[in-house]
Amino acid sequence: MRIAFFDSGIGGLTVLAEAQRQQPAHEYLYYADSEHAPYGAKPAAEVRDRVLQAADFLAGQQLDALVIACNTATSVCIKELRLRFSFPVIGMEPAVKPALQRASKKRVMVMATSLTLQESKLSQLLQRLDGSEQTDKLAMDMLVTFAEQQTFDSPEVTRYLQHQLSHYRLADYSAVVLGCTHFIYFRNALQTMVGDSVTLIDGNQGTVKQLFALLQQTNDEHSQHSKLRGEGAAPLRVFRSGIEQPLAPYLELLRRCR
Ligand code: SIN
Repeated sequence: MRIAFFDSGIGGLTVLAEAQRQQPAHEYLYYADSEHAPYGAKPAAEVRDRVLQAADFLAGQQLDALVIACNTATSVCIKELRLRFSFPVIGMEPAVKPALQRASKKRVMVMATSLTLQESKLSQLLQRLDGSEQTDKLAMDMLVTFAEQQTFDSPEVTRYLQHQLSHYRLADYSAVVLGCTHFIYFRNALQTMVGDSVTLIDGNQGTVKQLFALLQQTNDEHSQHSKLRGEGAAPLRVFRSGIEQPLAPYLELLRRCR
């Protein structure tokens, strides 16, 4: 199978790493729109245009599935992408459901980009789960910028996290939802900040599970052999603005995600 992952930058590599861990024998493509990252503080129309352009490029690569490994892009245009292509398009969903399930009477914090928090997709999800009253939303846009600069552990990051969390009584929370794939790079720093009694939950495993379930469903008629990577096909190719990139820096980042 040829499966493409799209993200505004390097955040989606955390989802790709999970897919490779679960099913390594596919042909994976990764598209980073790094020249235009971050998306989270841009107007929705601009994000939509960027995503459609990249998705059209990827659609030309004979895909079996496309994963929009970016919560912001998913919030803005996942429905449109599903109508546009005949192959399955899977998006990210903030893992609010498992967070609420374990919350009991405590609160849940959803961290995401400003645009994800603003878009109707999240409010509809919270309404559907009856979780609007129990949930607080916190925009963490700078984490995307730090990740894109590959500033993962620095006093600057610590100061930002401290500042953002300083308005909340962390003892009131049972879980923090990481509603942006870039935030996974800061999981350890965040866990230290919120303490062990708060669980950090992300949507990566759920998305990857959904991807493989969908592929299985749509390809049940093919033999097991045809599902795996063809002989001579590269296990991973990375694109940026439609141009294939050297793999080494991405392999290094993928190692960090594991
Ligand atoms: C961004 O580019 O601002 C973040 C993308 C995401 O939501 O994963």
